[in-house]
Amino acid sequence: MDEAQTPINLWGKRLVLGVTGSIAAYKAVGLLRVLAREGAAVSVVMTQAAMKFVTPLTFEVLSGRRVATDLFESHEEMIHLAVPEQAHAIIVAPATANFLAKAALGLADDLLSTMLLNARCPVIVAPAMDGDMWTHSTVVQHVQALRARGIVVLDPEVGPLASGQVAQGRLPAESKILDAIHAALVPQRDWQGQRVLVSAGPTQEPIDPVRFISNRSSGKMGYAIAEAARNRGAEVILVAGPTSLTPPSGVTTVSVNTASEMSDALNRHFPSSTVLIMAAAVADFRPKMPVGQKLKKQGKSELVLELEATPDILAMLSARRTSQIVVGFAAETEQVLSHAKDKLRGKGLDLIIANNVAQTGGGFGSDDNAVVVLSATGGQKTLGLMPKRRLADEILTAVRELCFISSRRESLVE
Ligand code: C5P
Repeated sequence: MDEAQTPINLWGKRLVLGVTGSIAAYKAVGLLRVLAREGAAVSVVMTQAAMKFVTPLTFEVLSGRRVATDLFESHEEMIHLAVPEQAHAIIVAPATANFLAKAALGLADDLLSTMLLNARCPVIVAPAMDGDMWTHSTVVQHVQALRARGIVVLDPEVGPLASGQVAQGRLPAESKILDAIHAALVPQRDWQGQRVLVSAGPTQEPIDPVRFISNRSSGKMGYAIAEAARNRGAEVILVAGPTSLTPPSGVTTVSVNTASEMSDALNRHFPSSTVLIMAAAVADFRPKMPVGQKLKKQGKSELVLELEATPDILAMLSARRTSQIVVGFAAETEQVLSHAKDKLRGKGLDLIIANNVAQTGGGFGSDDNAVVVLSATGGQKTLGLMPKRRLADEILTAVRELCFISSRRESLVE
C-alpha cells in the first residue's frame, strides 16, 4: 500500500515489539516501519539471539527509541514492569520455539520473557521456525497452552524455509500480523444498534443525614462494561451509584445514591433499552426509618437499626421485560456457581456473571477480575483473571454469542 494511503489506525497506541532469534528477525524491521507509519509508539525488545541476526541500531533508528535487550542493565525505571504495564499490546515477531516454550512455562530468564509475565494487555505471537519444529509435539503443546491463556498465537505460513525445506514455518505475512493487532486493539462495532443500560457501583442507604449503609463496590466493572459497549458501537446509559470514577465520555451517565433512586432511573430507561447489564451492588437492606437529623450518642451504649429489604430491581425489570436481554451479576463468597444458578433462575435472567469476591486478585476494588458466565440455557464459560476492561469485552462477546447471534439460544461456546 502506498505510504500516503495508509490509514492511521494505531495512533496513540503504545506497542512492544519483541524480536527473538530466528532468521526471520529481519522481517521485524519491516513490521516496525508499518506500525510506526500507522502512528504507534513502538518499544523494541530484542533477545540475545535476535541480536545475532539484526543489530539493535536498526530498530533504534526506525522506532526513535532505545532498544531494550538486557534485564540486568540499569534503567531509570523498572523497564520489565513499566513497559508492559503501559503497553496496549505486545507483539512477538518472530517468535522462536524457545520463546514459545518459555512463555508457555512462565520462565523469566531474559527481558522479553519477564515482560510477558507482567503483561496485562493483548499479546500476539507470530512464530517462525523450521517445519519439523512447528509440528513437534512439545511445540504443539506450548502453543495450545498459550492459546488457552488468551494469547493470540498466529499460524506460521507454508513456504520455503531457511533449511531449504518447504513446510509450515514461515513468519506470518505482515498483513496477517497487522490484522491480529487491529483485531486486538481497534474495537469492533459489533454492538452497533443496541441500546445498553448498565448499572454500576454501590448504593448508599441513609441512616441519618450524615451516615449510610453501603458496600465495597468500586464501580470499576460496570464502568468498564459501559466503556466497552460504547467502543463497540452501542448507545449506552450508565446508572451509577456513588464512585470515585470519572463518567465515561460518549455515555449518558445518571448518578444516583440509593437503591430506590437506582430503581427509578433504571425503570425510566429500561423500556427503550435492548440490553440490561446489572453490575451494580445494590444494597439488599436499608434502614427502615432514616431520621431527618443526625443521631446523637447521648449516653447510649447500643443502637438497634431496623432494616427492611430493598426492592429487587433486577427481578422486577426482568419480569417487566418485552424483548430485552437481561444480564445480572452474582457476587458470592462461597458456593459461587450454585448460588449464581439459583439467582439466574429466580430472577428470570438470560445470563449471570458469577463473581467470587473472596478470591485473591479479583473482586471489589481490584483492577482485575475472574468470572464464570452462566446462561439460562445451561451454557457456561469461564473467564480467567484479567483486567476488568478486558473482561468487560469478553462479557460483551459472551452476551452477543448467546443472545444476538444465536437465535437458537443454545449454550455458549466453551
Ligand atoms: O440477590 P443478589 O443481590 O445477590 O443479586 C445480585 C444481582 O441482583 C446483581 O445483578 C444486582 O445488581 C441485582 N440486585 C438488584 N436489586 C437488589 C439487589 C440486587 O437489582 N435490591
